[in-house]
Amino acid sequence: MNPRAWKLLHLISDGGFHSGEALAKQLGVSRATVFNDLASVADEGVQLQRIRGRGYRLAGGWQPLDKNEIECCLGAAASRFQIEILQQAASSNTELLRRLNVPGGTVMAVELQTAGRGRIGRTWHSGLGNALTFSLLWRFDCGLNVLSGLSLAVGVAILRTLNRYKATGVGLKWPNDILTAHGKLGGVLIEAQGDMYGPSLVVIGIGINCSLPMTIAQSINQPAVALDGICAAPPERNQLLAALLQELAEVLHEFSVSGFAVMRAEWEQYHAQQNLPIQLQMPDGTVVSGVARGVSDSGELILETAQGIRQYNAGEVGARS
Ligand code: BTN
Repeated sequence: MNPRAWKLLHLISDGGFHSGEALAKQLGVSRATVFNDLASVADEGVQLQRIRGRGYRLAGGWQPLDKNEIECCLGAAASRFQIEILQQAASSNTELLRRLNVPGGTVMAVELQTAGRGRIGRTWHSGLGNALTFSLLWRFDCGLNVLSGLSLAVGVAILRTLNRYKATGVGLKWPNDILTAHGKLGGVLIEAQGDMYGPSLVVIGIGINCSLPMTIAQSINQPAVALDGICAAPPERNQLLAALLQELAEVLHEFSVSGFAVMRAEWEQYHAQQNLPIQLQMPDGTVVSGVARGVSDSGELILETAQGIRQYNAGEVGARS
């Protein structure tokens, strides 16, 4: 989307009708330019209506990410974070990984990710305003060798947040997919840098579907769900980001003091496949079958296999067919 399209989006964000003529006048461009720019906005998955004689309207309006609003919702925790909002970027993780000299607690939230990245080289698809996509840079005194389990701890922070909003039927799939029985709600991509024995830093990227317009649902190559389908009163994105940051600050502190072990039982409570038969596809393509018996103190998946109890720190979990 070009900068003028962003301006137009802000001008019509109230959800009311705006005539093409008035918009064109406000920006000093032709009505055809307004038409083309708003078509590029609609391509990103927002519900734009155009009604002859009345003009353009964003069904449901659009609430932009807003730094002040997020800081206000954060309350006392606001001092722990430096928040930056980007309108458009390939990926918030990539963007933050370019700025590794920023302080711990730096948050980069992106309105429109054009090349969102997932675990194991996958793509994360989201549109304009339908998802919360952000990354948090966090610094640890410890080395990379003690960070195993961190990605599960992040899952715990996300579930604690979703519980605040009474999201129904949501759980975790090892290591940290957020899902319901009907599909995936969100995911976490953690990228670490530093020394084996410290200090280290991580960029924690989180994507959560807030709504799922048809165009976005079609671009996702697996069943997906959104918050507006599982919460009676879904939070808007600024509130959700603030709540996630509060829970992350708490969990990351607990993690640096005591490690993942103190959250292990809670993680297992949220584990969608606890005591269920699953298959684990290993990076080398082999598949291990067994019953998921939870996780170890350092976050490995525990499987009861025909050969006995085994622990795994890599692989992709699927249901047993
Ligand atoms: C996965 O499920 O495989 C992880 C998805 C992680 C997506 C988030 S969106 C914000 C951050 N930026 C990215 O490019 N990816 C993560």
